[in-house]
Amino acid sequence: MNLDELTTHILEKIPQVMFPTVADAQLIRAHRSFFEKHEAELIKGFYDTLYQEPVMRMKLKLEERKQREHSLRQWYRVTIGGNFDRDYWNWQTFVGIVHVKHEIANSAFLSMWGWMLTFLSERIFQELPSQEAQALLNVLQKLQVVVTSLIVESFIITEREAIKRSSGLKETLLARFVYLEIDQLLKQGVEIIQGYTLSEKLA
Ligand code: HEM
Repeated sequence: MNLDELTTHILEKIPQVMFPTVADAQLIRAHRSFFEKHEAELIKGFYDTLYQEPVMRMKLKLEERKQREHSLRQWYRVTIGGNFDRDYWNWQTFVGIVHVKHEIANSAFLSMWGWMLTFLSERIFQELPSQEAQALLNVLQKLQVVVTSLIVESFIITEREAIKRSSGLKETLLARFVYLEIDQLLKQGVEIIQGYTLSEKLA
């Protein structure tokens, strides 16, 4: 599967209502100065947060911080340009693959996405009339659905492809192994949650 096919494979499972429309993209562009105003603080806060985490400090060398900030700044600038075309979606698929290469866990990526959305939504509601703020947040949430799907799914699919290629396993055989392994995990899971009865929790 090449990058473009991978993007198609991921996008076709996302309900159409969750794609930013032309009007949504225009709304992002109309608020460009708002996004620009908060750019510096967002980039700094993002990496201050990450570098505070001991686990992340091991992954992200201090001397690379400028480069990391540069990548995020570029991503932010392109994104607030509100041009969500095929090239943009392909780029998000590519980011997932870059993250695999740098061993950036999806949990770290998704956590920081959450941080970014909280940062922006707080400021959106502080600075814009509430209806406008809600409309802008709705667009950011649609963007979140599509971008995080592309980055996370391409990460997972790329890892799976790499396992297939290096082991020479066919997709059907790999699927069978995964299936068997899942059965084991489910059995373990059932043992763990045996003491956890829903009726008690709901009482
Ligand atoms: C909102 C969340 C994130 C976004 C939007 C994002 C976006 C990006 C982009 C656009 C690139 C460059 C891809 C290219 O070469 O075109 C990249 C690369 C990278 N990202 Fe992320 N990323 C996010 C979260 C993270 C997190 C949480 C980490 C680390 C814990 C991380 C670490 C890296 C590294 C090490 C690279 C490769 C080097 C580089 O290009 O800077 N990213 N990311």
